Amino acid sequence: MAIKKVGVVGCGLMGAGIAQVAAEAGYPVAVREVSQALLDKGLGSIRKVLDRNVEKGRMAAEARDRALGNLKGTTNLDDLKDCDLIIEVIVELIEEKKKLFAALDALCPPHTILASNTSSCTVIEMAAATKRMDRVVGMHFFNPVPMMKLVEIVRTIQTGEATVQAAWDFAKSVGKEPVAAKDTTGFIVNLLLVPYLLDAIRALERGVASMTDMDKAMKLGCGYPMGPFTLLDLVGLDTTLNVAEVMFQEFREARHAPPTLLRRMVLAGMYGRKSGRGFYDYSGPEPKPANLGL
Ligand code: 3HC
Repeated sequence: MAIKKVGVVGCGLMGAGIAQVAAEAGYPVAVREVSQALLDKGLGSIRKVLDRNVEKGRMAAEARDRALGNLKGTTNLDDLKDCDLIIEVIVELIEEKKKLFAALDALCPPHTILASNTSSCTVIEMAAATKRMDRVVGMHFFNPVPMMKLVEIVRTIQTGEATVQAAWDFAKSVGKEPVAAKDTTGFIVNLLLVPYLLDAIRALERGVASMTDMDKAMKLGCGYPMGPFTLLDLVGLDTTLNVAEVMFQEFREARHAPPTLLRRMVLAGMYGRKSGRGFYDYSGPEPKPANLGL
């Protein structure tokens, strides 16, 4: 099945990245946000990344202009009705996702594939809100989307073979490497990554070492591109807490239970880079360890 036009619902951190890579690959992309302010913010962040790529000589100005020309922002879901593939990238709340999938199902022609970038929800639950369960698939991208090569293609117990193949081919066409995962909580990456990140927070709570030394240790000792606290700030503490909650509910294992410090930081609005403060403070020219009262 050929994907000619792409829809992206949600233009936050991940949605903007997905819209960007699709537009760069030459797809016309309709991006929907709930308000003009959020849409302007999301599209503005894409422009900033592309401008920086041009400034740094990583991209020609014409390629940037072409990519921006492929993007059409809207606050109206109806503008996505002629898309062949729609990727949902809204809040990680299953009830919201189910409502959206039902609305898209009613709006789109039968051939349209509905994909979810969820990192923690169960894809079949969204599929069951539609009358096209065979055309619903998970497509889980990684942050920052333009840099990370992986997409987990999540097949539910109802996803059709042609849908999986189309999602797989689309991921390749935007320069990503797909892997196949089942519709089990955490898929592949978060199943392995989240307990590691939570363990790092628990180690910090226990005073095992300083945050900066733990970050340094995992970078230099294991060759990770960034240590756990820098990565937590990149992923978002709110997102991590949400994924951990869902994994804990599913598996009932202590290693998925969110540590107290994580919960308190999220309550304080310390979400990481996106809010300017998480384990590190990003208000200055260089990130500095934030005061966590430990
Ligand atoms: N957004 C867009 N582009 C970014 C970026 C961001 N947040 N961060 C870095 N980049 C790009 C920029 O183009 C930058 O170049 P510039 O500064 O000259 O413009 C370029 O990357 C190189 O950046 P750096 O020199 O700062 O850093 P690195 O070489 O270390 O690369 C990295 C940055 C690719 C983010 C690397 O550190 C990395 O791979 N980190 C691990 C990220 C990771 O594990 N992501 C997965 C998270 S889990 C997830 O997403 C799942 C979810 O469900 C929770």
